[in-house]
This record gives sequence, C-alpha cells and structure tokens, in this order.
Amino acid sequence: MFQEDLLKGKVVLITGGGTGLGKAMASRFGQLGADLAIIGRRTDVLRNTADELEADGIEVIFRSCDVRDPGQVAAAMDQVYDHYGHMDVLVNNAAGNFISPTERLSHRAVDAIINIVLHGSMYCTLEAGKRWIAAGTGGTVLNIVASYAWTGSGYVVPSAVAKAGVLAMTRSLAVEWAKYHIRQVAISPGPFPTEGAWSRLVPTPELAQSFEGRVPLGRTGDPSELANLAAYLISDYASFITGEVVTIDGGEWLNGAGQFNTLSQLTAQDWDHISAMIPRNKKS
Ligand code: HXC
Ligand code: NAP
Repeated sequence: MFQEDLLKGKVVLITGGGTGLGKAMASRFGQLGADLAIIGRRTDVLRNTADELEADGIEVIFRSCDVRDPGQVAAAMDQVYDHYGHMDVLVNNAAGNFISPTERLSHRAVDAIINIVLHGSMYCTLEAGKRWIAAGTGGTVLNIVASYAWTGSGYVVPSAVAKAGVLAMTRSLAVEWAKYHIRQVAISPGPFPTEGAWSRLVPTPELAQSFEGRVPLGRTGDPSELANLAAYLISDYASFITGEVVTIDGGEWLNGAGQFNTLSQLTAQDWDHISAMIPRNKKS
C-alpha cells in the first residue's frame, strides 16, 4: 500500500519506542525511510530494539529518558537535534497502567500513571513545539490514547483521567498551533496484546479471554495494523488532518456502548423462540 520512501527525510522521536506498539511503529517507520530516535527508561531494552532495527538497515539512536522529568526530555531532544539536525514527528506513546480498585490506590500510584501519561506527553509536546515554533519548521505530534478517554472506565481510573487529558491536548493544540504548521493527531487502539499491557491489565487467562472476547471482529489487533495507520497519519498524505483521533479496535468500544449488543450471544434457535413471543401488528 505504501511507497517505500513514504517517510524518507523525516526524523521521528518515539517515546516508549523500545517495546510493544512503540517498537512496532519504529520498525514500520524505519522500513518506510524515517530516521528514528527511541526513548524509554530501560537502556538495555532500548539497545536490544536498536540492534534489531539496525540489523534491518534502519538508522536509530536511543537514550534513557524518563518523560516525567522535563530536564531529561530536553536532553533527549537535544541529542536528536545534535545527531540529525532536525526533528519532524513526536510520537507520545509511553504509558504506565495497571488494573486496581481505585480505593486501593496510593497517591504515589496515581502520580506514577498520571505523570507518565499526561505530564510526560505534555512535557514532550511542549519541548518539541517550542523548538518547531522557534525554527519555523512545523511538525507533527501523534498521541496514543485509549477509548476510555471518552467513556471513562473503572479499575484504570488514573489512566482514563490522563488519556482524557491527552485527548484534550490533541484537540486544543490542533487549533492553537495550526498557525505554526504543527499538526496533532491521535490513535485510539483497542486490544493489542503486548507484554507490557497484558501483564498489567489482564494478568490471568480468564481475564484475558473475557477481555479479548469483546471484539466484534473476533480477534485482537496486530501491532503492524496500528503501525501502518500511524505511518499514514504522520505522512504528508495526511497533511490536512489535525485534531482527529482514529480508532483501531475491531469495533470494541461500540460493542460496549450499544445497549442491545449483548444479543450477539443468541443462537438462531433462541431468536425463533424470542420472535414468537414479541407482539406484532396483525393486518385486519
Ligand atoms: C497497586 C501499584 C501497582 C499495582 C504499582 N503500584 N503497581 N499499586 N497495584 N499493580 C504503586 C506502587 O506500590 C507505588 O505506590 C506506586 O504505584 C509507584 O510504583 P513504582 O513501582 O515505584 O512506579 P514506577 O517504577 O514509576 O512504575 C510505574 C508503573 C509500572 C506504572 C507502576 O507499572 C510501569 O513502569 N509501567 C510501564 C509500562 C506499562 O504500564 N505498560 C502498559 C501500558 S498499557 P506506593 O504508595 O506503594 O509507593 C495501556 C493500555 C490501555 O496503557 C488500554 C488497554 C486496552
Ligand atoms: P508497553 O510495551 O508497556 O509500552 C509502554 C512503553 O512506555 C514502554 O516502552 C516503557 O519503557 C515506556 N515508558 C513507561 N514509562 C515511561 C517513562 N516514565 N518514561 C519513558 N518511557 C516510559 O505497552 P504498549 O501496549 O505497547 O502501549 C503503548 C501505548 O499504547 C500506550 O500509550 C498505551 O496506553 C497505548 N494503548 C495500548 C493498548 C494495548 O492494548 N496494548 C490499548 C490502548 C492503548 P520503560 O519501561 O523502559 O520506560
């Protein structure tokens, strides 16, 4: 579908680019010609991913960086500019999350998640935006959110609060920074069984089965599907799209929203029985 040089000449910084969906995006963007920088807290994880990408002929630099620390974020972007001379795309993908009854959370647990997802995304966006505005170059921010940014969700409340904030940032800056040619786009993924997410959100086979069973298309997502969508959104073919969030979830959130969608469980026989019970208008 894509031309091989779709992202040639673009420098892309991906937070959380060493694992899961961030790694899948790094790999796809690199195949399409982008030059990459990946950051995260664990240097060994980043190094392994960089080695894999370099083995495929993809140019990548990496640096340990905690997005909760604005000083570390600035230093990471300095390194990108020193190495490549410019930066075109920021992907706010880093996240922290785990399931818990909210009343069991400590203040530090709340801070851990909101500081990574909301503050981290905003620190990175601010740092990139200031550089793009000063240089007059423009740029693109891609935020990875979740469907509960709109709906809310019990048991992941700090993440829902933070993702809702990132959604608000996406839409707010789409307008405010449009005059600087800075686009803001977002992806709302449904279930993609990465190690990082599944170990913290569906840690038992029973939880995993019930979670994965909610998808009308009958399967979970493949990271390559998300990476292809992301490649389009950061490419010049999407240059008139800003402030928009694209959902990629096999119909999951709509399944949860529609009041009668649980009727999918009924068999043809059940329907025969039920239909016979429902009053119909008789022609006189
Ligand atoms: C209750 C917990 C906890 C848990 C940690 N805490 N895990 N509380 N239940 N399972 C508490 C700790 O006790 C501590 O509070 C506080 O949180 C901070 O913990 P630390 O371990 O010191 O934090 P830190 O090292 O900063 O780690 C952050 C983290 C961790 C979020 C807790 O899980 C992490 O590093 N996650 C990164 C990767 C990740 O989460 N990936 C999943 C993204 S998936 P006290 O008071 O004891 O000091 C995603 C998908 C969304 O977002 C949608 C899915 C469909
Ligand atoms: P993941 O593999 O756990 O990715 C999270 C990444 O963020 C890790 O590489 C982690 O690296 C990094 N990170 C965490 N805290 C950080 C910090 N303070 N500073 C810098 N980096 C940090 O999980 P994933 O499933 O790929 O998730 C990627 C994105 O998709 C997240 O935004 C998530 O909310 C979103 N999402 C995922 C799903 C899904 O089903 N998988 C669904 C909806 C939304 P370190 O630990 O080394 O720092």
